[in-house]
Amino acid sequence: MTSESELLRDRIADLLVTARERTRGLTECVDEDDLIRQHSPLMSPLVWDLAHIANQEELWLLRQIGGRQPMRPEIDPLYDAFEHPRAERPTLPLLQPAEARAYAREVRSRVLDLVERTRFSGERLVTGGFAFGMIAQHEQQHGETMLATHQLRRGAPVLSAPPPGPPPADALRLPAEVLVPGGPFVMGTSAEPWALDNERPAHTVDVPAFYIDTTPVTNAAYADFITSGGYDEPSWWTAAGWAHRQQAGLSAPQFWRREGGEWVRTRFGVSEPVPPAEPVMHVCWYEADAYARWAGRRLPREAEWEKAARFDPAAGRSRRFPWGDDDPTPDRANLGQRYLQPAPAGSYPAGAAPCGARQLIGDVWEWTASDFVPYPGFEAWPYKEYSQVFFGGDYKILRGGAFSVGPVACRSTFRNWDYPVRRQIFAGLRTARDAAPGEAA
Ligand code: AVJ
Ligand code: FE
Repeated sequence: MTSESELLRDRIADLLVTARERTRGLTECVDEDDLIRQHSPLMSPLVWDLAHIANQEELWLLRQIGGRQPMRPEIDPLYDAFEHPRAERPTLPLLQPAEARAYAREVRSRVLDLVERTRFSGERLVTGGFAFGMIAQHEQQHGETMLATHQLRRGAPVLSAPPPGPPPADALRLPAEVLVPGGPFVMGTSAEPWALDNERPAHTVDVPAFYIDTTPVTNAAYADFITSGGYDEPSWWTAAGWAHRQQAGLSAPQFWRREGGEWVRTRFGVSEPVPPAEPVMHVCWYEADAYARWAGRRLPREAEWEKAARFDPAAGRSRRFPWGDDDPTPDRANLGQRYLQPAPAGSYPAGAAPCGARQLIGDVWEWTASDFVPYPGFEAWPYKEYSQVFFGGDYKILRGGAFSVGPVACRSTFRNWDYPVRRQIFAGLRTARDAAPGEAA
C-alpha cells in the first residue's frame, strides 16, 4: 500500500468524522419533539435529514462500493428526496430519533471498516476516493440545511458560537470595487478529484473586463436601499421580482424587523441589532437583483464570479481557491459553522483573490445573475438526480459557500443553486459592472 493511499484513507475517515460531529451537534441539542416536528414547510424534520444522510451513505458506500445487501430496504423510499417533497415528510412513518441514530451509527461503523479495506483505484466510483468525498460533502450540505432549519425554528436558543473577530485595520480603506482583466480563463474542473458532476469539465470561457465589489454587500448598504425606498420602486425590480415582492409582502431581509428606529434581527433564536458591517444575508435573488440595479450595478455572471475567485493573471491559470491551491484554513475563510454568522466585510485578507476581492469563499453564499445550466461536455455522474434534473431556467446559481457549510463542500468551482424566491438560505450578494472598453484588456 502506498503512503498516498494511507493519506487518503486518513483524510476520508477524518472528513466523515467531522461531518458526523456537525450532524450530531445539530440534532442532539434539541428534544425529540423538536427533531420530529416540521419547523417550516420549506424544510424537513431534522430527524429526516439524519436518516437520509445515513441512507445515502449506506446506498453509495455499503451497497454500491461494498456490495452489501440493503440493511432496511423498506425505509429507502422514505428517504428518497424525489419520492416525497419536504412538505410531505412529517406525515411519513419515519424512523424515530433513537432508531435513526442507531441506523446512522451502524452504517457509519461499517463504512469505517470499508474505508480500511478499499483501494482507491480501478472503478470510477472509488478512484481518488470520489464516492467517499461525495458522501462527506453530502453530509456537510445537509449540515447546512439543518442549520437553516434551526434558523427557522422558534423557541429558546440552543446553538451558540463565539462571534468572529473584528475586521483588519485596512477594511475601511479598501477600494469599493476591483478590476478583473478581460480575456479567457479556465472555468470548471476536470482535475479536482471530488468535484461534483456539475463543476465538470474544465472549459475555456472568454470574460471581458469587469469590476466586482471588493467585499460582499453589507447590512448597512442594504439598509440604505431600504431607507431610500428600494422596496417601493418597481423600476429596480424585474417584472417577476416585483410581482413576488408584492405578493410576498417583502420589505426587508427575512428575520429583520424595525424596533425603536433601529433594525433588529433574530439569529438562531436570539434578537440582536443588525450589525452594519456584516454581509447581508437572507435576501432572495429578486432582492439581490433589485439592490444591484438600485446601486447602478448588476449581479455578476457566474463565469465572472469564478474568474474573480480563481484566475491568477500572473501565472495565467485558474487555481482551486482565491488564495491558491491549498485547502481552506481558519485564517483564509469563514467556513464550517465555526461561527454562526458571517465576518465583517473586509475580513480575511489572507483569503484575498489576485484581483483583491475578499471573502469570495465563506461568510455568505453569493447570488449570481446566472441560471443553473450544464457546462459544455457535462455528463451526469454518478446519478442524474444530483444536478441534471435541476438544469434549466428555474434555479439561480449561488457561489462561494458560507459560514454554514463545511470546507469539504466548498471550492471556487463549486456550484450551488436555488429558486429565486428562497431566503432562508445563508445567501447575500456582491455586485459588478462592465469595465469601459480599453480598461485593461
Ligand atoms: C446543492 C444544496 C442545492 O440541498 O438540495 C443534498 C445538495 N443534494 N442532497 C440540496 C443536496 C442532495 C443540494 N444543493
Ligand atoms: Fe440529500
